[in-house]
Amino acid sequence: MSEVADRPGAGAAAQLILELLPEPVILVRAVEDEGPEIAYGNKAAREVFRIELAGAPLGAALRRPEVLEAIEGALATSTNAEVAFETIGVQPRFWRAFARPLDTGPGGPRQLVVVLRDETDAHRTERMRADFLANASHELRTPLASLAGFVETLRTHAKDDPEAREKFLGIMAQQATRMARLVDDLLSLSRIELNEHIAPSGKVDLARTVQDVSDAIRPLTAERGVIVAITPEPGAPSVTGDRDQLVQVIQNLVDNAVKYTPSGGRVRVALQFAANLDAARAPSRSGVGLSLLSPDASDGQAYVVVRVTDEGPGIARQHLPRLSERFYRVEGQRSGGTGLGLAIVKHVVNRHRGGFAVESAEGEGSTFSVYLPVAAS
Ligand SMILES: Nc1ncnc2c1ncn2[C@@H]1O[C@H](COP(=O)(O)OP(=O)(O)OP(=O)(O)O)[C@@H](O)[C@H]1O
Ligand SMILES: [Mg+2]
Repeated sequence: MSEVADRPGAGAAAQLILELLPEPVILVRAVEDEGPEIAYGNKAAREVFRIELAGAPLGAALRRPEVLEAIEGALATSTNAEVAFETIGVQPRFWRAFARPLDTGPGGPRQLVVVLRDETDAHRTERMRADFLANASHELRTPLASLAGFVETLRTHAKDDPEAREKFLGIMAQQATRMARLVDDLLSLSRIELNEHIAPSGKVDLARTVQDVSDAIRPLTAERGVIVAITPEPGAPSVTGDRDQLVQVIQNLVDNAVKYTPSGGRVRVALQFAANLDAARAPSRSGVGLSLLSPDASDGQAYVVVRVTDEGPGIARQHLPRLSERFYRVEGQRSGGTGLGLAIVKHVVNRHRGGFAVESAEGEGSTFSVYLPVAAS
């Protein structure tokens, strides 16, 4: 190590490396009767903490008292220190500072190096994981509490009341179905995520898939008095895909559309060939449109677009970006669902290297579009 460092020019090289490091690194020096000052900050440090000059007080760059205290302590006692802190700006960032004293020999200045690590991404992932667990537990707990309540009622008050018993058992069956669906959706989402990086290899005829999904939900649409009208694209090519997953995608979109369309209304499912990405992304109607997922552009890739349009209440603009988040439901709409459907759609379409968009306006229904790459012939 020292051999390398002793070679001619090694000091300049080390200086250059330090400058180019993506992590902020600062050299802090103790000043008699004053707070510590910054002797040096590399490029990343100067950018992140806007340290203009060597000689600036440390407190001007790192304003958090707990960080200053830890560094001053390490400087005074020549020991290591580690401290986590948050900077507040347009976007809060999470940092961890590592302070290491420098041995400058007897009588030398008291100095230490502070390396800062940006832990914002790890923090965000951790927050998402915690939120997800809290949401999932909450969603499971609600029907479970209701089931437990009814068991208690059946054991006591409703014990000798056959009519009430029948009614409560009906509700319990509903709640049990709801829980089973939630668990199925959660498992399905985690399976999709596990192999999201592995592109599917099958070929799927989307026109057939749309027809099959529509046939399967006919009992539901008949009951709701909603018509599902399919406009096929004659001669539309097959797409590269996993058929079961694409069934799930279309099912979720059509389910939502049927759910929000008032009885007597119509849900339209249209297939369309798009020669390239721009054509696939082109708006299909007036109102606000937003892409929820967009593939990387690849030259000459053609797509098949599936558009599901309903005559429901539409969705206010502020909700659009969050629709495909897990458990997100528009407030005030009683969907009866758990808010996982569109998250599943997004992950499946992402695995397929396709795109997903929504167009909607309050009072004007909604159109959800998914586009998938055409299979090579
Ligand atoms: N076609 C639509 N019209 C109006 N709002 C919709 C439509 N589709 C989805 N939404 C809104 O987006 C939310 C999320 O939809 P998503 O399909 O993910 O969940 P869900 O239908 O509530 O539950 P799940 O699909 O898990 O049963 C819904 O709760 C609803 O508020
Ligand atoms: Mg849904």
